Amino acid sequence: MNIGNQCCVFLSIFLCISICLGEDYDLDDKTGLGRSFDGIGGLSGGGATSRLLVNYAEPYRSQILDYLFKPTFGASLQILKVEIGGDAQTTDGTEPSHMHYEDDENYFRGYEWWLMKEAKKRNPNITLIGLPWAFPGWVGNGENWPYSFPDITASYVVSWILGAKQYHDLDIDYVGIWNERSFNSKYIKLLRYTLDKSGLERVKIIASDNLWEPISSVVIADKELQDAVEILGVHYPGTNTVPEALKTGKKLWSSEDYSTFNDNVGGGCWARILNQNYVNGKMTATISWNLVSSYYEDLPFERDGLMTAKEPWSGNYVVESPIWITAHTTQFTEPGWTYLQTVGHFTHGGSYVALTDERGNLTIITETMTHDHSVCIRPPLPSYDVTAQNVTFHLKGTFASISELQVWHSKFDFKTNKTVLFQNIKPIKVTEGSFSIELDVDEVYTFTTVRNGQRGSYPDPPPSAPFPKSYKDDFDVSGNPYFSEAPNFADQTGVFEYFTNQTDPGPHVSTLRQVVTQRPVTWVADADQTISVIGDYQWQDLMVSCDIYMESVHTGGVFIAVRVNKGGGVVRSTRGVFLWVYADGTYKVTNDLNGMTVLAEGMSGTRARVWYTLTLTVKGNYASADLDGYPLWKNAVLWEPRHGWAAMGTSSFELAQFDNFAIEALA
Ligand SMILES: *[C@@H]1O[C@H](CO)[C@@H](O)[C@H](O)[C@H]1NC(C)=O
Ligand SMILES: *[C@@H]1O[C@H](CO)[C@@H](O)[C@H](O)[C@H]1NC(C)=O
Ligand SMILES: *[C@@H]1O[C@H](CO)[C@@H](O)[C@H](O)[C@H]1NC(C)=O
Ligand SMILES: *[C@@H]1O[C@H](CO)[C@@H](O)[C@H](O)[C@H]1NC(C)=O
Ligand SMILES: *[C@@H]1O[C@H](CO)[C@@H](O)[C@H](O)[C@H]1NC(C)=O
Repeated sequence: MNIGNQCCVFLSIFLCISICLGEDYDLDDKTGLGRSFDGIGGLSGGGATSRLLVNYAEPYRSQILDYLFKPTFGASLQILKVEIGGDAQTTDGTEPSHMHYEDDENYFRGYEWWLMKEAKKRNPNITLIGLPWAFPGWVGNGENWPYSFPDITASYVVSWILGAKQYHDLDIDYVGIWNERSFNSKYIKLLRYTLDKSGLERVKIIASDNLWEPISSVVIADKELQDAVEILGVHYPGTNTVPEALKTGKKLWSSEDYSTFNDNVGGGCWARILNQNYVNGKMTATISWNLVSSYYEDLPFERDGLMTAKEPWSGNYVVESPIWITAHTTQFTEPGWTYLQTVGHFTHGGSYVALTDERGNLTIITETMTHDHSVCIRPPLPSYDVTAQNVTFHLKGTFASISELQVWHSKFDFKTNKTVLFQNIKPIKVTEGSFSIELDVDEVYTFTTVRNGQRGSYPDPPPSAPFPKSYKDDFDVSGNPYFSEAPNFADQTGVFEYFTNQTDPGPHVSTLRQVVTQRPVTWVADADQTISVIGDYQWQDLMVSCDIYMESVHTGGVFIAVRVNKGGGVVRSTRGVFLWVYADGTYKVTNDLNGMTVLAEGMSGTRARVWYTLTLTVKGNYASADLDGYPLWKNAVLWEPRHGWAAMGTSSFELAQFDNFAIEALA
């Protein structure tokens, strides 16, 4: 603190009006540099968080991708992390595995391959990371545990990395262990060995995508593990690290963070942690869960992404504040830049970081987020104060000769709602190596020698609209469909994918087929039934019809449903109105997915390997069902739930097909 500051008015020898004090901060590379910067990224998956993005029509889909990935346009992300699909529920849905079965390999399922290619197309330098949340059942050999046969798990994961290269020319840079679950040292070493043996020495290992401990202590104690692990990746560290993590000498990453509703408080959270993850925790990469909120809003963790794109049917999307907060760092740095040692907290709250490319470029990012305007979902944020303040930066060392800096400004104004995001304002003159700035609360500034920042924009997308009241899908896709999943279906247990029956000359050549036949090595408590939801959560009165085909001869069962009220990690307790038919010739109507509450049951005469048309109509407190146009059951009285999605699925992990799906919202 410079007591000689011109603004300080001395009232007595010892007292001056401190509100007027400006504080001084040196930025100097001659005192030594800090850690190397590894980037800011987004996480697609964990799970199915990009599900609805892929079904956007052009030009909107490309616009969304530009806001995320295109350099010097929007978020200009430097890292894309994706889920290695494991056929199981991983928060907002399931993502398909590249190996449903031991003898199965397919590197075209899901949308993560596509997303990685779109990201690379825009930024060839983007860092790619893959991480499993769950595994197909065969990997665990019947156990809900991936480490009993670590060699099988390692070769399963490595096959995904090899497939990325072979089929999509994607070089995966990093791979993780098992998201937020136990790690196993033997497995990590075996994974390293399997990668090396497969010519993938360049692919580095992140461990363990959980807490700082026990991985830090275990790495310190085990030399071979030290060599196998490149990055210590922690989740939701609250910007802090622990002494053991620092002692490992490893790079420290916040490999999953944010997960906060993406309004302006979410933007404040993101601004605070992007700076303070380094200032407090020496973390050199921060990855947002999630990349883009492209899942039905009534699934868990609504809008916890950098932007929102959850209406492919309307084309509407929203570029939320975290996109522009990201730009404050990403547009003026590259992975490989280095933090200065002179980073820290401001005297009156907030923080600053400075990075250099070691060719003389300098980027300074400041944030002065107040507590209540920057709370993240977790962990709890201890209270602290931030007030408006004058700060003076003194550029020293290589930076002493800088005479002007570009200035980018964001301000969350919660009083007037006049929020300003990523505005390029007048460059600031640096006089004799110094410049001063008055920082208000809830502001982000970038001061930089980099001149090519841009606030990209597109015309406003179409207005928001509800899911169509009348909707049909016959699943007829000619040739190879670009995506394996049918638009707007959000699988919550099991995997539903396009299927073509090469030998069927009839009307059901192209269908949607549930393909998971064994309970996966789960990440949460997947249901014992499979289920895919679709539509508008507010739907009350609805008619759903669908052709169904059971493939399991004695034990088969399928359902269609309305007013389905849950998904995600709590899918087991989903309620709604479910119409089931079984291969043993019976039917049932239940009030829940697990079949505990039976509203009606009887004989249907249904059997496996025959196509039937099921129709379920719910209006007010009454429900009725038809089988092939004949009433199966009529006017059952039901009370709860009052609204929810439509859905279809199977009574166990079994093969079954669906065709000519149709919804008619009544009234
Ligand atoms: C990729 O990285 C290289 C080396 O840092 C850089 O010269 C180039 O501009 C980068 N390309 C993009 C598209 O960012
Ligand atoms: C800063 O980076 C740009 C490219 O982004 C480069 O042209 C320039 O030489 C670098 N150094 C300085 C001192 O600006
Ligand atoms: C910053 O400095 C200016 C000019 O000296 C002064 O008017 C202003 O009150 C100061 N602001 C704060 C928050 O101290
Ligand atoms: C600011 O916006 C929030 C959220 O939209 C709203 O609740 C609040 O009333 C607004 N405040 C003012 C002063 O307009
Ligand atoms: C394919 O179609 C043939 C002829 O209709 C039928 O016998 C067979 O069961 C179908 N296979 C599947 C998996 O649907």
